[in-house]
Amino acid sequence: MAIPDPSKRLEAMPPYMFQELERRISDKRAAGIDVISLGIGDPDEPTYPHIVSAMQEAVAENANQKYPSNRGREEFRRASAEFYERRFGVEIDPESEMIPAIGAKECIYNLCFAFLDPGGVALAADPGYPVYTGGPVLAGATPELLPLLPELGFAPDLSAVPADVAARARLMFLNYPNNPTGAVVPEGFFEMVVSFAREHEILVVHDNAYSETTYDGYVAPSFLATPGAKEIGVEVFSLSKGFNMTGWRCAAILGNADAVQTYWRLKTNVDSGLFEAVQMAGVAALQGPTGPRERMNETYVRRRDLVVSALREIGVDVNAPKGTIYVWAPVPEGHTSTSFSELVLEEAAVVVSPGSMYGPSGEGFFRISLTTPDDRISEAVERMRQHLT
Ligand SMILES: Cc1ncc(COP(=O)(O)O)c(C=O)c1O
Repeated sequence: MAIPDPSKRLEAMPPYMFQELERRISDKRAAGIDVISLGIGDPDEPTYPHIVSAMQEAVAENANQKYPSNRGREEFRRASAEFYERRFGVEIDPESEMIPAIGAKECIYNLCFAFLDPGGVALAADPGYPVYTGGPVLAGATPELLPLLPELGFAPDLSAVPADVAARARLMFLNYPNNPTGAVVPEGFFEMVVSFAREHEILVVHDNAYSETTYDGYVAPSFLATPGAKEIGVEVFSLSKGFNMTGWRCAAILGNADAVQTYWRLKTNVDSGLFEAVQMAGVAALQGPTGPRERMNETYVRRRDLVVSALREIGVDVNAPKGTIYVWAPVPEGHTSTSFSELVLEEAAVVVSPGSMYGPSGEGFFRISLTTPDDRISEAVERMRQHLT
């Protein structure tokens, strides 16, 4: 007896982008080759100790072991609002303008189901985090790509969005500091987004996954600090990267109260909220000292500089990013993203991500993640230097 075929929506999805990479790595490792992966952006250092202690305490409390409410613990809502005020100068009403999310990925996916009907349109940064296109496809809608243009500092040209597409669009997914390009938001861009979204009645979803991971004195703003942003937008704030908490699934949606409410309505039908012990750990993260994050960023900057100087030595013309955990670089002449990534894997046993994995506008680039210990990064760049010059 055969089980039914997967749904047409699922069949319409491209394979999970790391699947093929993971298979190749495990084949090589099975053959005894020491592969160094600079592919996936998952912080290698542990979650900061004060967060782990708060979790240990919270998890032992019976009150935290029940079904959570989707609205979230008051403490987590308040701590998020206070963090937004202190860190970004953005006022958030903890009652109506914030609820927890089980990671940014869940939030972005569910926003698609909350706002898109079959046949609807979402605008998605290209290259971009895959859920910006996968979420709409699974919701039966169409993602329309917003190419991020290097000459505009990896921002899209909003005036190039065709009028009929803008008219049909209901959501727009953006993200700065940006994965995968490492770009920070160009001066004045968020203001243009606000006026575009107002004109076309689009809900802006700004994915703020990397605001705490910045270098060289750059301080990332919140999209919600842009005048008028809260009228047409929400921000998804994840603790995954800045607090080394990828496994904890701790995030929040903040901003437009009607949008937050709509997301909440959807969520009450889909999941049962964020584990309250995790919310209490989130409180400790948001209220805790900034020293651990600063030290983490010093580590990333050291790794970034190692990677950038090695790439320049082998003739790759690369900018040092001011934020995120990624170095985004053009492939050498004569290569595609995939052919270069394959060459690096075959010759140097180092995994880099082909830029085309993040969308068609990523073609011609590759991405290196800085979330590997220093000695392994040094070894990886040394191998690249030896084998690719
Ligand atoms: C831009 C961006 N958004 C969201 C996420 C996922 O965040 P979370 O762990 O909160 O689901 C990532 C992870 O790589 C990311 O790069």
